[in-house]
Amino acid sequence: MPVHLHILISAGPTQEPIDPVRFLSNRSSGRMGYALVRAALAAKHRVTLVTGPVAIKPPEGCRVIGVKTAREMRRALLRHFPTADVVFQVAAVADYRPVVNFRKKIKKITRTLTLKLRRNPDILAEMARKKRRGQILVGFAAETHAALSYAREKLVRKRLDFIVVNDVSNKAIGFESHDNAVVVIARDGRQVRFPRQPKTLLAQRILEVVLL
Ligand code: CTP
Repeated sequence: MPVHLHILISAGPTQEPIDPVRFLSNRSSGRMGYALVRAALAAKHRVTLVTGPVAIKPPEGCRVIGVKTAREMRRALLRHFPTADVVFQVAAVADYRPVVNFRKKIKKITRTLTLKLRRNPDILAEMARKKRRGQILVGFAAETHAALSYAREKLVRKRLDFIVVNDVSNKAIGFESHDNAVVVIARDGRQVRFPRQPKTLLAQRILEVVLL
C-alpha cells in the first residue's frame, strides 16, 4: 500500500428536514471524525472530509464537503469513494427521514401530531457493495447495550474491514464528549480495546490499527 493514502472520512450528524424551521437529528458532535481527520493529516495522508452540520471548525489542509441530509451525504461520499484507499464512516447518519418535508411551518393546531418516517439509504452498506480490492472500509457503531455482539454482527452483515464500537450509554464518553473508549474489531476477529482517553489520542490509535 502506498505511504500517502486518500482517506475519506465522514463526521457529524445528518439533519432531516420536517418543515422550514425544524429537523430530525442526533447528538453527534463531529469530534471523533474531526480527530481522525487531524490524525490522518498529521500522518501526511490526503483527506476528504464529508461533514454534517457541527459546531466545530474543520481542520486546515483537507478537502471539506458540507452536507445536511443523509441523501446529500450519500451523494458526496459515493462521488469520492472510487478514489479512496480507506473510508472512515464516522457520521451518525439519521436512519429515518420525514416522508414529507412541509413547505410551510407546521402550526400547532391539533392535539397530537404524527410524523411518518422513511428509512434512509444505508451509505456504509452501499460502499461495501461497491468496494474494490484493497479498499479498507471502517464502520462505527454506537450502542447502548450488547455492544460487541451487535457490532460483530454489523461487521459481517455490512462486509466491513473494521468496526469501531463505543458504548453511548456512558455519559463520560462518546456523543458530545471529548473522551471516548472504544473496541476496534477487525474482520479476522482480532480485537483491540482502547480505554477512556481524549478523542485526539484515540484517533491516532485507531488510524494505526487500521493502517498497520
Ligand atoms: N450508517 C450509514 N448509513 C446509514 C446508517 C448508518 O452509513 N443510513 C453507518 C454509520 O455511519 C456507521 C454505521 O453505519 O458507520 C453504523 O451502523 P448502523 O447499523 O446503522 O448503526 P445503528 O444505526 O447504530 O444500528 P441499529 O439501527 O441496528 O441500532
